[in-house]
Amino acid sequence: MRIGLAADNGNWHKARLKAALEHLGAEPVLFSLADVAVVTGGAEPLRVPGFDALPDGVLLRTVAGGTFEATTMRLGVLHALVASGATVWNSPTAIERSVDKAMTSLLIDRAGLPTPDTFVVSQRAAAAALVEREARPGRPLVLKPLFGSQGEGLQLIARPEDLPDEEAVSRVYYLQRYIARNDGLWRDYRVFVCEGRAIAGMIREGDGWITNVHRGGRPLPWAMPDAAAELAEAAAAAVGVDYTGVDLVEDGEGGYLVLEVNSMPAWSGLQRVTEVDIALAVARGFLNAVRAARPPRLVSASG
Ligand SMILES: Nc1ncnc2c1ncn2[C@@H]1O[C@H](COP(=O)(O)OP(=O)(O)O)[C@@H](O)[C@H]1O
Ligand SMILES: [Mg+2]
Repeated sequence: MRIGLAADNGNWHKARLKAALEHLGAEPVLFSLADVAVVTGGAEPLRVPGFDALPDGVLLRTVAGGTFEATTMRLGVLHALVASGATVWNSPTAIERSVDKAMTSLLIDRAGLPTPDTFVVSQRAAAAALVEREARPGRPLVLKPLFGSQGEGLQLIARPEDLPDEEAVSRVYYLQRYIARNDGLWRDYRVFVCEGRAIAGMIREGDGWITNVHRGGRPLPWAMPDAAAELAEAAAAAVGVDYTGVDLVEDGEGGYLVLEVNSMPAWSGLQRVTEVDIALAVARGFLNAVRAARPPRLVSASG
């Protein structure tokens, strides 16, 4: 099987995935999506570095940020790989859905899963009217960058005057009801789902309301309740991700709400507090999917 591992950054994760794939008998070729070319007029127009024939499977750790044009091309490359019969984890469709927080919220809601009330509008006047109606001091909304990650750029909005101008939000206001945590601790939860199953989870404890490990949140071991595992599995299915980190927060009534579904999750924090080998689980699930997608071979010469 021709296997590619595409990772533009994050050496720790890349090394873990490479080792896990090799442990399972694959020989992954590392490449960067930024180095893939399209060349027409000859043989196969999609040129993936390290591959003469196109890969059977590509395990994607990250798609590096870039301009709108660069990102569009990289997603196009992934779509072309899928069209050629390759298994891509996560699929470009899943990546597009999860990177766009508005689409994630829509899919979660359509699937009937609990998530904080969310409002996405393009114009400042519409956002201001929303804030006027839905928020007040002590009961703010959370403004998130549509393509945000790692807890960057989140703001609490209590009054219309708090709203940044359209330019500063790239002309999309993603506003969500702020969920207060009622035990005085800044805690929420991360569940790692792979192949449809919640395989590991942790508590994340922050010094403030944003608990991302990148922002100083501390991973703590968690005896994950079934309700949390089932909700994370359903959220992963709703977005169509093959492996994912799902952020959950307590709803204050003994249940959970989905905050986010990540298609390019990091797991170094989680790995410190779980015995499950996350990279191995991802590599195994991915190779299973590649095998399942390949047409069955007739008996080979060696039997
Ligand atoms: N609606 C909310 N209410 C309370 N806290 C929130 C809410 N949304 C996000 N947070 C906090 O901010 C963190 C980052 O938000 P998230 O939606 O996961 O975006 P990111 O992609 O930046 O991780 C969450 O893990 C949580 O700690
Ligand atoms: Mg998150």
